[in-house]
Amino acid sequence: MKSFKILTFGCQMNEHDSEKLAGLLKAEGYSESERLEDAGLVLLNTCSIREKAEQKFYSALGKLRELKKQNPSMKIAVSGCIAQQEGKSMLRRAPYIDILFGNQNIDKLPSLIEESAGGTAIDTRFTDGYEHTAIPASRESAVAAFVNIMYGCDNFCTYCVVPFVRGRERSRRPGDIIREVEELVKSGCREVTLLGQNVNSYGKPVITPPLSPSYLKRGMNEKNCNFPELLKEINAIDGLLRIRFVTSHPKDLSGSLIGAMANLPKVCNAIHLPLQSASDSVLGRMNRKYTFTDYMNRLGALRDAVPDLAVSTDIIAGFPGETEEDFQATISALEDIRFDGIFAFKYSNRPNTAALKLPGHLPEDVRDERLYKVLELQDKIMQEKISARIGLVEEALVEGPDKSGEMGRLTGKTRQGKIVNFEGPPELVGRLVRVKVIEGRKHSLAGVLI
Ligand code: 5AD
Ligand code: SF4
Repeated sequence: MKSFKILTFGCQMNEHDSEKLAGLLKAEGYSESERLEDAGLVLLNTCSIREKAEQKFYSALGKLRELKKQNPSMKIAVSGCIAQQEGKSMLRRAPYIDILFGNQNIDKLPSLIEESAGGTAIDTRFTDGYEHTAIPASRESAVAAFVNIMYGCDNFCTYCVVPFVRGRERSRRPGDIIREVEELVKSGCREVTLLGQNVNSYGKPVITPPLSPSYLKRGMNEKNCNFPELLKEINAIDGLLRIRFVTSHPKDLSGSLIGAMANLPKVCNAIHLPLQSASDSVLGRMNRKYTFTDYMNRLGALRDAVPDLAVSTDIIAGFPGETEEDFQATISALEDIRFDGIFAFKYSNRPNTAALKLPGHLPEDVRDERLYKVLELQDKIMQEKISARIGLVEEALVEGPDKSGEMGRLTGKTRQGKIVNFEGPPELVGRLVRVKVIEGRKHSLAGVLI
């Protein structure tokens, strides 16, 4: 029996790529193993966004090497952003890898497996224009699904490796996206999260395969549409209850997107809007193309238009040249804005990026200390914000049984995107319910059905 196990590192884009890779393997007759040790093929889908992500991968790879020594027939495959970044040179460090492929070669996995019978099989070419629609994703949840709307990034923030590992920005055709969502809804999906490195700039260059019949049927022209227009189309799909999206670049948060979020009933009141820093000089050197005032103006307009908006962000502590004053500006911004969630990182050098050559790289202890201060402050803010929700009635979409495995308990998400667990019968899965919040924990709420 052919079996596999996939370990995924990194972002939601990678999580969804893993769902596609699992779908491909299942279509080839593979079954998913619970335990790593039992898998005939172990695939590491990697992330290279920060040094730490890379270290995690190499330590997992080292452990796999030991397993392979005991079970030489086990195949090791490596995909994702580190595979793309390192290419063949990874084999110098780890010659025992059987299969190595990049982000735009996901569809090649079955043929690479065959090829690997004769030695390591590699494909890390950029094939720009590759369309993922045809891959049957094996999705984690039947109720809430990821859907790619675009790939790659053209922004070249000076710290970021993504343009080098995910390539230029390409948008999928609206008709193909709509058809995928319609099919998901037919199979019971009720919520989609639209994925892209910068969804707000959706609709620039389209990718190249011929128009799908559903695209023609809807009479949409070949010119493509922009993100707010895409949201409107998806909002019109019968049976779909909710729409989310990640990630938004503040510079592209347009008035029409704010309007779409305010007026389209299925679009949830949540946004991930990476600030990175509140100092204009740091933002300039990051090549973010907005000032702190721009950010605040847009966020203000969005908060005015969308009631009870949840806002989360990314912060980089200790970017090259960040002074104590720059850092304090970020701390004050966190106090003023009071984000609902934050992903904070200390600056990390990445290959090929422009920040490597910037002056004023800061010592690790300064970066660590600043990161600690950001996290400490945000912890306090989040505690306060979570406590403020106790007693409120939230609309939750029920996704399945509570992951803790406790009998009779269900898990769902509020419109703001917070996990909420409560007691209830399994028939509620896929339905919207009303839940009164009785307890707020760091990463989830507990509630009772009302
Ligand atoms: N160092 C630290 N954080 C980084 N990020 C991206 N590149 C780096 C880097 N070199 C963070 C940014 C981005 C998030 C996905 O990861 O905050 O928004
Ligand atoms: Fe995702 Fe970027 Fe990490 Fe690649 S490098 S997995 S795109 S976060």
